[in-house]
Amino acid sequence: MFRHSTRTFVVGLCALAATTAPAAPALAAPAGGAPPPAPHTDARALHAQTIADLTTTMRDAAYAHAIYGLFAAEADRQGLPAVGKLLSSTAQTELDEHLREAATLAGTVGSNAANLRQAIEGETYEHEVMYRGFAEQARQDGDLEAAKLFSEIAADEGRHRDAFRTALAVVTSGRGTVPAPPKADMVSVPAGLPKVKAARTKANLDTALHGEGLAHAKYMLFAAHAKQTGNAALARLWEGTAMVELHEHLAGEAVLAGLVRDTRDNLRMAVTGERHGATTVYPGFAERATAVGDAAAARFFRDTGADEARHGAAFQKALDQMG
Ligand SMILES: [Fe+2]
Ligand SMILES: [Fe+2]
Ligand SMILES: [Fe+2]
Repeated sequence: MFRHSTRTFVVGLCALAATTAPAAPALAAPAGGAPPPAPHTDARALHAQTIADLTTTMRDAAYAHAIYGLFAAEADRQGLPAVGKLLSSTAQTELDEHLREAATLAGTVGSNAANLRQAIEGETYEHEVMYRGFAEQARQDGDLEAAKLFSEIAADEGRHRDAFRTALAVVTSGRGTVPAPPKADMVSVPAGLPKVKAARTKANLDTALHGEGLAHAKYMLFAAHAKQTGNAALARLWEGTAMVELHEHLAGEAVLAGLVRDTRDNLRMAVTGERHGATTVYPGFAERATAVGDAAAARFFRDTGADEARHGAAFQKALDQMG
C-alpha cells in the first residue's frame, strides 16, 4: 500500500524476488499501492530519507513474515518440523520486532479514524488503479489465470474500502454499527512452478505480493490499537480483513508466482535475502540515519541488521543439517 516508484529489491526476501521478476515497473502508476500517509506523531521530526527507509523496512519485514509462513507450511508438509518451527519463529520476529518497531518510529499507527482513512486510501488505489491495471495487462499478455485473480482481488479491495468507509462513519459519528469482518477463502500454497508466462505479469505479482503482505501486517497493528482503545468490533474488522489479504490474496498470488519451492531452495533464497539485509541494506540505512542525526532510527537499523545476520546464519545451519 506504500508507493515505491523504483523497484527496491533490498531487504529480506526481496533479493529472491529479483531473480524471478524483471527490473522495470509494469504499471506507470505508483506500484504497490497508495502514497505513504503522513506520519502521525513523533515521526514528523525524522528526516524524510529516514521515513522512506523505515517504510522500506516495513514493506520487506511484512513480506518476509508472509513468505516465511508459507515456507514453514511447506517444511511441515515435507516432514521437516524443526525447519518449519525455525521458519515460523523467524516469521514472527519479522512482524513482532522489525515491522512493529519500524511502524512505531515512523508513526504509522494513529487514531482509529486516522488508521481507517489510511486504509481507505490504499484500498481505493488497489481497487481503482492497481489491480484493474494488472488485470488488463495480464489479459494483454495472455496470462488469463492471473487476469482472473487480479480482477477478483480488485473487487474484494472495493468491498474492503466500503466496509472501512462505513466503519469510519461509525467511529467519527458514534452512531451505527461497524460492519462484520469478511471471511477469507483460505488458499494453500504448495511447492510449485510459476503459472504465468509474461515478465510483466511476474513483476506485477511481485508488487502485489508486497502490497498484500504490508496490508496484512498494518491491519494487524491497527487491530491491536482498536482493541487497546476498546473498539472490539473494529478490531474484528481489521483482523478479518488482514486474514483475507494474507490467506486469500497473497496466497493466491504466491501460487501463480510459484513462490514456494522445495524447502532446500526456500532456505537458500531466504539466506540470500537475509545476508543482503545484514551486510548491505540495514548498515546503509543506519549510516544515513546517523548522518542526519536520527539516532533512535540508526540504532533500530543496526539492531535489525544484526537480527538479519542471525536469521541468515540459522537458515544456513538448517540447510547444512539437511545435508
Ligand atoms: Fe484489501
Ligand atoms: Fe488485498
Ligand atoms: Fe530476517
